Amino acid sequence: MFPIEIAGPRIALREFRIDDLDASMAVVGDAAVTQTLSFDVRTRDDQAERLSLDIARAQSEPRPDYYLAVANSNDTLIGFVRIGLGRDRSGELGYALRREDWGKGYAAEATALMIAFGFDALRLHRIQAACGPDSRASQRLLARLGFTPEGRLRDHVFTNGAWRDSLLYSLLEHEWREARHDGS
Ligand SMILES: CC(C)(COP(=O)(O)OP(=O)(O)OC[C@H]1O[C@@H](n2cnc3c(N)ncnc32)[C@H](O)[C@@H]1OP(=O)(O)O)[C@@H](O)C(=O)NCCC(=O)NCCS
Repeated sequence: MFPIEIAGPRIALREFRIDDLDASMAVVGDAAVTQTLSFDVRTRDDQAERLSLDIARAQSEPRPDYYLAVANSNDTLIGFVRIGLGRDRSGELGYALRREDWGKGYAAEATALMIAFGFDALRLHRIQAACGPDSRASQRLLARLGFTPEGRLRDHVFTNGAWRDSLLYSLLEHEWREARHDGS
């Protein structure tokens, strides 16, 4: 499926564009954001190359992931949310926002839109998320979304020069539907 555009009350999920480069540096170029992600802070040159690859990958068939920009009401990129597709109708959720927009509920909105897309449009059965043990906001967010903790993945990622554990969470389709009381 391409292109994807999902509108929420305050933010929208949309495909990346080449002119998102400067705005995306407030996310991937900020060490305070990337310290709890699975990759290191990026230079502008690195990000320019990655962004071009991300834009091209979105149009590949079959699509390996849905990596989308989180855009505010001015259509400015303020973050990203991603579902990577795995086997047996599974997906892995990832997300990050620029620091100036933390604590406003935007991540809750963006991830809820992506999860609904994953279960309804992509027909996933299971969505998992691996987050850093020190990422309190992320753990709180996943709990609020109805995810269940599954355990600790030891030395799961090598980031910022060191191995780091992750906490694994998952949400199953029927749990999500029951929580929404739609039973469909
Ligand atoms: C994780 C992240 C996306 C959360 O974004 P956000 O927009 O601030 O989150 P929200 O405002 O939607 O809040 C979600 C929940 O986290 C809580 N929260 C937010 N910041 C928090 C913090 N610093 N400490 C503890 N809880 C926090 C909120 O209170 C809310 O819980 P509630 O609904 O029970 O009140 C953001 O902090 C971020 O981009 N971090 C860096 C990247 C990252 O860690 N990504 C996740 C990788 S697994």
